[in-house]
Amino acid sequence: MTIDVWRIDLEGPAAAFDAACLDAEELRRLEAYRPPAVRRRFGRSHAAVRYILASHLGRRPAELVFSVGEHGKPWLTGESLRFNLAHSESVALLAVSDSVEVGVDVERVRELRNLEGMARTAFHDREVELFGALVEPERLNGFFECWVRREAYVKGLGLGLGAAKTVEPAWLPGAEAVEPRPGWMVRGLAVEPPYKAALAAASADFEVRLRPWPVDERD
Ligand SMILES: CC(C)(COP(=O)(O)OP(=O)(O)OC[C@H]1O[C@@H](n2cnc3c(N)ncnc32)[C@H](O)[C@@H]1OP(=O)(O)O)[C@@H](O)C(=O)NCCC(=O)NCCS
Repeated sequence: MTIDVWRIDLEGPAAAFDAACLDAEELRRLEAYRPPAVRRRFGRSHAAVRYILASHLGRRPAELVFSVGEHGKPWLTGESLRFNLAHSESVALLAVSDSVEVGVDVERVRELRNLEGMARTAFHDREVELFGALVEPERLNGFFECWVRREAYVKGLGLGLGAAKTVEPAWLPGAEAVEPRPGWMVRGLAVEPPYKAALAAASADFEVRLRPWPVDERD
C-alpha cells in the first residue's frame, strides 16, 4: 500500500491562494489571523488541501465538506479517503490514504530551553529514558525525531493533547520505523533540513510517496 504525502510550499513564488474554494469556517479562521504571513500560510495550506483531495476524488475543491472529530481531527464527510495536515513555518505536509487512518507531523528543528522538561511532559516514560541517554550532538535531533513521531501517532489516532504522554512509544533512536501497537506503523519522512517529519498509519506496512505541491507543470 502506498500513502501519498504532499509537501506544500507555503512561501514559494506561487504563494497566492484561491480563497473562493474555502468554506465559511475556514474564512472565519483566515480573517482571525492578524499577522499577514500567518494568514497567508493558513489560506494557502487549506486551499492546497482542497485542491489535492479534490483531485484524488475527481471533485471540485469548493464542493468538499469537512467534519471534525471529538479532539479536532478533520475528515471528509461521506468519503472513505483519509487525510491529515501538519504545518511548521513555510512547510505543510498533507498525508492522504484511500483507506487507512493517517497522522502526520512536521517541525523545524530549533534550539529550545528545557528539552528534558518538555520530554517528561510529552514523551512516554520509555522515550524519556532513551532521550536521556543521548549525548550531543544527537540530542536536539533526537528530541525532534521523537516529537514528530509521537505527534504523528497521536494525530493518527485522532486523540488530543491529553493523550501525548500516555500512548505507546513511537520512537527508537536510529530506527526508521516503529510499530507502536499491532496494526499501526510510525516512520520518519525524508524532508529537507532543518525540518523533521513523521507519518503514522493504521497499517502494518506501507510505502510513502513524497510529492511536491504545487505540481510543476513541466513534470
Ligand atoms: C492540535 C494538535 C493535533 C496538533 O497541533 P500543532 O502541532 O499545533 O499542529 P500541526 O501542524 O501538527 O497540525 C495541525 C492540523 O492538524 C489537524 N488536526 C487538528 N486537531 C487534530 C487532532 N486531534 N488529530 C489529528 N489532526 C488534527 C488540523 O488539520 C490542523 O490544521 P489546521 O489548524 O490548519 O486546521 C494537538 O496534538 C496538539 O495541540 N499538540 C500540541 C503539541 C504536543 O503537545 N505534542 C505532544 C506530542 S510530542
